[in-house]
Amino acid sequence: MRQMLSIQGSWSNRWIFILAAMGSSVGLGNIWLFPVMTGQHGGGAFILLYLSCMLLVAVPIMMAEVVIGRHARQNPVNAIEDAAVSAGASRHWRLVGALAIFCGFLIFSYYSVVAGWVLHYLVAMIFGQLNGLGVDQTSRFFNKLLADSQMLLLWHSLFVLLVIWVLAQRVERGLDRAMRFLMPVLFLMLFMLLGFALTTGEFVSATEYLFNFHLQDIGWDAVLIALGHSFFTLALGVGVIMAYSAYMGKSDSIAPTVIAIGVFDTLVALLIGLVVVTVVMAAQMELRAGPGLLFVTLPVAFLQLPGGQVFGFLFFLLAAVAALTSAISLLEPATAWVTERFKWSRARAVLLLGALAWGLGVAALYSLGQLSDLKILGVSIFDLIDITTTILFLPLGGIAVAVLAGWVLDKELLTAELALSNPAMAALWLWLLRFVAPAAVGLIFVMNLYNALYS
Ligand code: PFF
Repeated sequence: MRQMLSIQGSWSNRWIFILAAMGSSVGLGNIWLFPVMTGQHGGGAFILLYLSCMLLVAVPIMMAEVVIGRHARQNPVNAIEDAAVSAGASRHWRLVGALAIFCGFLIFSYYSVVAGWVLHYLVAMIFGQLNGLGVDQTSRFFNKLLADSQMLLLWHSLFVLLVIWVLAQRVERGLDRAMRFLMPVLFLMLFMLLGFALTTGEFVSATEYLFNFHLQDIGWDAVLIALGHSFFTLALGVGVIMAYSAYMGKSDSIAPTVIAIGVFDTLVALLIGLVVVTVVMAAQMELRAGPGLLFVTLPVAFLQLPGGQVFGFLFFLLAAVAALTSAISLLEPATAWVTERFKWSRARAVLLLGALAWGLGVAALYSLGQLSDLKILGVSIFDLIDITTTILFLPLGGIAVAVLAGWVLDKELLTAELALSNPAMAALWLWLLRFVAPAAVGLIFVMNLYNALYS
């Protein structure tokens, strides 16, 4: 049953929705993956490729998620069921929504463990615990932290409590207010860090690393990486955008809003990339992607530079805020579903979900420390959740949304909700959803699965 307004509340205006979607997109992936993948796979050529993937694949899928979520004004399970039933299709399509919110919930459980590492580093920066350490010592510091399950438990619990606190309230008082406060803080940190990067003398080299055009470095692997990253970073396939869109105003135009999210997200990713690359270059260190970049290389690099302790702290504050706004978004679809399915208050729903995810996170964090011998299918619980969500569920969710919107749902309903003034644009959108998006995401799915199984 469609609603006039979501029972969860609504965003106070279109910009807060954009901020919230950006908060979901800008996360740890932007910090430890994007800068290095750009530098290693063609610089400016990669950026162009990435923008094309975004416009041709990610943006159309995101528009479909927004259309479905806003039309029904309910959680992703109900929203998909509503759209499918109105088109005369099976109500079992709602399983796609269920898979998506379950995937978001699973990602949340381990994402909040990693966010706990960030909080630990934030405090370590304040107290100067990392001052004067070289790469080997910082690497030991990090490994000691991973083995210190009690400490991680503390940070993980604190982080989950923060998320529960924001989500327990109605959208206006919780999500909306949190985004209004956190996103400007994130931008402020980013601009201060850019100012710092400008003083190091390596800003120009970093710009060259990220933007110089190396077409010869673009291969199949670059295409796959660009596609996969655009998908992960825009939080597609996990019900987040669908859930957030249920709180959007009826008159807000969808296409420009979604394109703005994609463009701003890329811009922020590039600015964060400039800070990361400049600092690492200024300290004459090696750039390597992954958690090691954030938890080993960057602290050492910052602390070698004048003013490094203050700016290193600001950098970890930026990472903590980015992780928080992403984590909040990951638990929202499940929260909306539980409140609407069982007629519970948001507080009760998020307490239960938060507790469950916290428990799973505890299992994940112990699997890196005291229980590191425990392996399921040859990997730790932490890796198992990471791999099943990002390699299996996320792309499957994306393909399902594209197929549902492109082939199953009522075209009139979709185009009416989208309200594009130019019919050719609507036709282009449908064509991308029908053919390009499922094929591209299917390709990432198959290749990633192949790589996970055979390499
Ligand atoms: N976009 C986040 C990042 O880049 O770290 C991760 C993420 C957040 C993925 C929210 C999925 C999601 F729904």
